[in-house]
Amino acid sequence: MPAYYATAPGKIILFGEHAVVYGRPAIAVPVLQVRAKATVNFDPRSAPGIVTLQAPDIGFEAALSDLPEDHPLAAVVRKAASAMQLSHIPACTIRVTSNIPIAGGMGSGAAVSVAILRAFSTALGHPLTDEQVSQLAYEVEVIHHDTPSGIDNSVITYAKPVYFEKGKKIEILKVHQPFTLVIGDTGIQSPTGSVVSEVRHAWEQAQDQYESFFSAIGAMAASAREALELGSMDVLGSLMNENHAVLKEMSLSSPELEGLVETARSAGAWGAKLSGAGRGGNMIALVKPESSAQVAGALSQAGAKRTIITEIGAT
Ligand code: PMV
Repeated sequence: MPAYYATAPGKIILFGEHAVVYGRPAIAVPVLQVRAKATVNFDPRSAPGIVTLQAPDIGFEAALSDLPEDHPLAAVVRKAASAMQLSHIPACTIRVTSNIPIAGGMGSGAAVSVAILRAFSTALGHPLTDEQVSQLAYEVEVIHHDTPSGIDNSVITYAKPVYFEKGKKIEILKVHQPFTLVIGDTGIQSPTGSVVSEVRHAWEQAQDQYESFFSAIGAMAASAREALELGSMDVLGSLMNENHAVLKEMSLSSPELEGLVETARSAGAWGAKLSGAGRGGNMIALVKPESSAQVAGALSQAGAKRTIITEIGAT
């Protein structure tokens, strides 16, 4: 029996994290160098009716029937089965691997969901549409943290730069010229759900102030979209610096993130900011392609646990 597989990329938020949860626009891009992969095997020797889930990277193996409703991997498979209107799932093994850092703001959870949804539905002869894949991956994100904006599942499903506003139809961004990002990982895991709850708590305490933070960030995302359409890299870099300053004021930065952001700017980046939930995880720097290796080297020297140089192609 053949094995079926699908992969899904990581992602980085360029502008608008947190504000996007409160209805402001945000921009995210796929990171194609890191991926989650799901492989489905129908092994005639496997026990009838048993669906086995394996995630060898984290030493996980279990039968679907033994997993609770809210287990993220089990939830993906069950949601896929119900979208395909399968009354029973044939015996198979679903194996998931990923080199996307976990809890680093690179969308590892959503990428695993998208890869499973595509591999599993194709294996069973009912490939789900992109819209279904994105919607089901969103429903699983809700299990990871209560109030996801939906940006992760969107950018990862479509694997294109997106301009995203909650509740609106997703827009694929026009990118006038390719651009290069260096991603620096602090190595500090920062689970999105808890940071998002802390921001909600702060918003409840000081709504006017937080609404004005979010509006400022939303305006930056809108300006960034124009800069991308025109190919104005210096404007884009300055907007990243401004977006970082607001996130810092919301106390979402950390000494490690500050160190890496400062290092990237001193090494010649057009701009740099934290990316994702903050407090840890990754930062990004917009650089000239010819200085990317130098900026990545400077980030490693300054303590980055891993760096990725990625080019976002014109669309
Ligand atoms: O990049 P991540 O996966 O850490 O997501 C953070 C993005 C937030 O805006 C903080 C949350 C969300 O759901 O959009």
